[in-house]
Amino acid sequence: MLEMRTVTADEFVQWLHAEARAHGNRLDVDPEVLRPHFDLDRSIAVFDQGNIVGGAYSHRLEMSIPGASAVIAGVANIAVQPTHTRRGVMTRMMHHQINDIHERGEPLAALFARESVIYRRFGYGIGSLHERWTIDRQYTGYARPYESRGRIVFVDPIDITKELPEVFRRSTMDRPGVFQRAPHQWERDSQAPEHKQGGPGGLFYAAYEDGGRVDGYVTYRIRGTTLVVNELMAATTEANAALWRFCFDVDLINCTEALKRPVDDPLPWMLADPRRLQRSTRDGMWLRLIDVGACLKLRRYMQSDRLVLEVKDELCPWNEGRFELEGSTEGATCRASSTSPDLVLAVSDLASAYLGTVSFSALSQAGLVDERTPGALLRADRMFAVRYQPWTPHNF
Ligand SMILES: CC(C)(COP(=O)(O)OP(=O)(O)OC[C@H]1O[C@@H](n2cnc3c(N)ncnc32)[C@H](O)[C@@H]1OP(=O)(O)O)[C@@H](O)C(=O)NCCC(=O)NCCS
Repeated sequence: MLEMRTVTADEFVQWLHAEARAHGNRLDVDPEVLRPHFDLDRSIAVFDQGNIVGGAYSHRLEMSIPGASAVIAGVANIAVQPTHTRRGVMTRMMHHQINDIHERGEPLAALFARESVIYRRFGYGIGSLHERWTIDRQYTGYARPYESRGRIVFVDPIDITKELPEVFRRSTMDRPGVFQRAPHQWERDSQAPEHKQGGPGGLFYAAYEDGGRVDGYVTYRIRGTTLVVNELMAATTEANAALWRFCFDVDLINCTEALKRPVDDPLPWMLADPRRLQRSTRDGMWLRLIDVGACLKLRRYMQSDRLVLEVKDELCPWNEGRFELEGSTEGATCRASSTSPDLVLAVSDLASAYLGTVSFSALSQAGLVDERTPGALLRADRMFAVRYQPWTPHNF
């Protein structure tokens, strides 16, 4: 008989080991460094005869949503040991966790999926997308003449906590799907063991300064003759152009890769020969509307309108039903309704439309939204439209 409960402080290390094992790793960080960042009341562990065989966690975080920001449960550490897979352990944990997040009053949950086939059954939908890029050096010329006003300087990892968090904030301000990194995460990055290692593969930080102000930064690694951009954040167009130019022009490099770029990144439009940029898209963050009514009320809407949405949600009975949404750029109201719906859809698909990652029209073409009132798809598209596509540049 398997027991499910939170872990005690004494069981914390065993819980981390079980997670690492499930991912095929050995624990490679000091558990005591991690301990202060876990509220064990939010942990879940499944025990078989006193041994932890599965676990999950959720961090309380803030995420940007269109026109606002929201408290969100950042679901992590989901793992079932290979000795106990495919007998419903994860399912039990996910059901328990969704109820727990609901009881805490957190309207949204997010996670990063190792495999994209798993989480839709629990009501999660793709909340943001990103692109992976590769480009050969000879094709990195810009379409328009370019001259940098500022300068690029290397930043010692010890100093990244000074100015980079503000650049991150400024460059992601209007974009949904972004989690602001907590100060302790910047500190952890600044003290990461890899900075102390010699040899290739370490992470470099370079910043763009203009008139004494830091307007952008890039973090990258060199792998052979490839420069791999880990993160590039620019608060101005000058910083953006200068930082990419810097990456492309580093000596001895003949290829640049970028791991996670927004799908509406300006760089492809800046290139003289854009076809040479190889782009592949994949799911980024997965989103779960834990409380549909609260979520619909929280965000702002591009166009003022009123819609009745009928939502299907087998796991959360409080989400099943019709929601009359009235929204604008100023705010929104949302209440239970008994009038006939304009659109009918599953909670996982509403999650994908919620931040603006996909339009209702595209979901309808995929057979996932039923338009009951003619014209409602287009009205919903206009209401939920966003200026910048959702992007989640880093995991929590
Ligand atoms: C992924 C993982 C958590 C699944 O745990 P589990 O206890 O085996 O999952 P369950 O038995 O509850 O399976 C629930 C459903 O998901 C399906 N499923 C689970 N893992 C799957 C996978 N990797 N690929 C395809 N389907 C999967 C099951 O077949 C089952 O389907 P059903 O409801 O139609 O019967 C576990 O295999 C694991 O820890 N893997 C390694 C680490 C990992 O990938 N963690 C996830 C990080 S996001």
